[in-house]
Amino acid sequence: MTDKLSRRLFLQGSVAASAVAASGIITGAAVAAHHKTPAVAYGPKPGVAKLNANENPYGPSPAAMKAIMAASAKGAYYAADPYRVLVDMIAEKNSVSKSQVSLSAGSSGVLSYTAVLASTKGKILGPDLFWDTTAKTPQKIGAEKIKRTAKTEDLGIDLDAMYAAITPDVAMVQITNPNNPTGRLLDPVKLREFCIKASKKALVLVDEAYNEVTDMPEKNSMMSLINEGHNVVVARTFSKLFGLAGMRVGYMIASEENTAEINRYSLGGYSMNQAGLAAAIASYNDEAFLKMSKSKIVEGREMILSAVKANGLIALPSETNFVFVDLGKGNAEIFRQEMAKQNVLIRGIYRDYNNWSRVSTGLIPDVQKYVDAMPMALEKTLAKA
Ligand SMILES: Cc1ncc(COP(=O)(O)O)c(C=O)c1O
Repeated sequence: MTDKLSRRLFLQGSVAASAVAASGIITGAAVAAHHKTPAVAYGPKPGVAKLNANENPYGPSPAAMKAIMAASAKGAYYAADPYRVLVDMIAEKNSVSKSQVSLSAGSSGVLSYTAVLASTKGKILGPDLFWDTTAKTPQKIGAEKIKRTAKTEDLGIDLDAMYAAITPDVAMVQITNPNNPTGRLLDPVKLREFCIKASKKALVLVDEAYNEVTDMPEKNSMMSLINEGHNVVVARTFSKLFGLAGMRVGYMIASEENTAEINRYSLGGYSMNQAGLAAAIASYNDEAFLKMSKSKIVEGREMILSAVKANGLIALPSETNFVFVDLGKGNAEIFRQEMAKQNVLIRGIYRDYNNWSRVSTGLIPDVQKYVDAMPMALEKTLAKA
C-alpha cells in the first residue's frame, strides 16, 4: 500500500468514525471506555469465616496452582487431552479400565446423570437425611419424589430398614458414606453386606465425597465391589480433601455397562475445563499436600468438638470436614443468624432436624472465630427458644 493510499484510507476512517459518533452509535473507543469488568468476590469476603459448604480452603495445593496457571493460558482450547489423562490416572489407581471412569464438573454431574438414568426405570430410595441435591434432579423433570426410610434416633442410616424398603418399583438405592450433613460413617463390613444384597434388587449408588477425609479411606470404600461384579457405582470428588470445590471436578466408577448408560447423559470432555482438570491432575497423587490438608481438617474438627463440649452441647462423631452439633433446645436457623451477625457463616436447619447445626472445618483462624462466637450466639439462640 502506498503512503498516499494509506493516508487517504486513514482519513476516510476518521471521517467515518466521527460520523458514527455524531449519529449516537457507540464507537470502538467508547466501547473500551464502557467495558468495565465487574468486581467479583472469589471466595468469602475479608473478615468472614465461611464454614457453611464443607469446602477445604487449604487447597488448591501449590502444585495445583501452578498447573491452573499453565492450563488457563491454554484456555482457548478444549480440554480433551487432560480429560483423558485424568481418566487414566483414576483408572490406574483404582485398578479399573478407562471405560469404567466417568468425569464431570464436580461429582454433582455424575450423581445427577445417575439419578436421571435411575428415574427412567423407577424410584430412588434414600435415608431420611442425606445429601439429596442430585437425587432430587429427576423431580424437576416430573419424576416421583425420593422414597425415604424413617428417621432413626441416632441420625444413622438403618440398613435393615433400607433393605426392607427395596420394593420392585425402586430402581436405585443411594447411600452417602460418610453421610452429609450428619458426618456419620457406616460400618464398612455391614455396608458391604448391604451393598451386595441390595444390588441384586436395584442399582446401589454410594456417594463417597468424604471418603478421603476418613481415617481409613480404603477400608471405608465400596469401590472393590464394582470389579467383583456387583451392581454398585461409586462417586468421588476433588471438592473436599483436595480443596478444589470451585474448580469443579468429580468422577464416578462403575461397571463398563453402567458407565456407558450413565454417560448417555454426559457430555464427557465438553463438560470440563482446562484449569479444573489441571488442578485435579496435579493434586491426585500429591501425598504431602493431602496429608497436610487432612491434618488441618482434623485440627479444626477437634477445635469445634472442644468448643461444643465447653458450651455444654454434644455433637455426632465425625470423620469428615464438618460436624453436626445438637443445640438442645436451640433452633439451628436462629443460631445460624446469630453466628452470621458475628461474621461466621454456618448452615441452618436441614429438613425438620430443627436443633441440629452443621459447621464445616476451614482455615484454623476461621474455626477459631466460630469457637469465639459460640457462647454469645448460643445464649441469644437459647433466649429465643
Ligand atoms: C455427600 C456429597 N456428595 C456430593 C457433593 C457434591 O460435591 P461436588 O459436586 O463439588 O463434587 C457434596 C457437596 O457438598 C456432598 O456433600
